[in-house]
Amino acid sequence: MIIANTVEELRVACQNASENGLSVGFVPTMGALHEGHMALVQRAKKECDWVIVSVFVNPTQFNNQDDLKLYPRTPEKDSALLQNNGCDVAFFPNVDDVYPKGLVIPTVELGEMEKVMEGAFRPGHFKGVVQVVWRLFDLVKPTKAYFGLKDFQQVAVIQHMVRTLELPVEIVPCPTLREPSGLAMSSRNMRLTDEQKEEAVVIFRTLSFMKEKTSAHSPSELTVLGSKMIEESSLKLEYLQIVDSVSLKPLVDHWSESATVCIAAYCGEVRLIDNMTLF
Ligand code: PAJ
Repeated sequence: MIIANTVEELRVACQNASENGLSVGFVPTMGALHEGHMALVQRAKKECDWVIVSVFVNPTQFNNQDDLKLYPRTPEKDSALLQNNGCDVAFFPNVDDVYPKGLVIPTVELGEMEKVMEGAFRPGHFKGVVQVVWRLFDLVKPTKAYFGLKDFQQVAVIQHMVRTLELPVEIVPCPTLREPSGLAMSSRNMRLTDEQKEEAVVIFRTLSFMKEKTSAHSPSELTVLGSKMIEESSLKLEYLQIVDSVSLKPLVDHWSESATVCIAAYCGEVRLIDNMTLF
């Protein structure tokens, strides 16, 4: 595995791939890697000739400076995991490489998408995600890019960016990996105590309960029942919303063909998100 710490090193590392017309699978990450990330790397390895993983804690997508400061960073462990999972190039850029002076990044109108759920509670978050992913795509020039459905709204935003800017890359959404308890794997779980990890399972229990009950209730009734489950636990609910999986519009009285329930809640100081497709 090649480790590239600068844009120049990335260019040299990728020369072989571009000269030989190899397909490039790309997995952007913020590090503190776990099995959820590795599932994306393994899928990319299966489908592409050459796999590039970026590890970059992107400051422009954090609306909370404490969250940015406390975001776990484990570069040595990340390198070892990537090496063992068939990554060809691990790209660890610094902020000046990603955002050099004078760089112009196209703006993408996100409309309603940045006004609901993560967009509403994390102002500016998706603008930052679009910036960094656009820049990384421009550097890596991937054939396919792999994103986890754990960040359901992020996948929708990236697909929107690719369509709007007509970028020549295929976005591959991948299923959420969970702990045996049902807790969605996340870098932020490293900040939870064992006891908190058990408490956080209420999120998965709520999602599963709601999936079972769609035929008995309207979306708004089920939203009330699900919210109550979280509110009766030690977690602090930020939002629980059932949305149409494609438009992300909230569902109220009637079910649409595809619905997803999304939850954000604080377990102690740690903000967790999860979601489940209901049909
Ligand atoms: P990060 O949170 O590190 O996640 C990197 C990728 O791994 C994302 O596509 C995310 O959805 C996926 N992922 C995380 N946990 C997962 C799980 N349990 N199962 C499956 N996939 C999972 O998402 C980001 O970084 C950033 O916003 C980024 C896209 C890199 C832009 O900075």
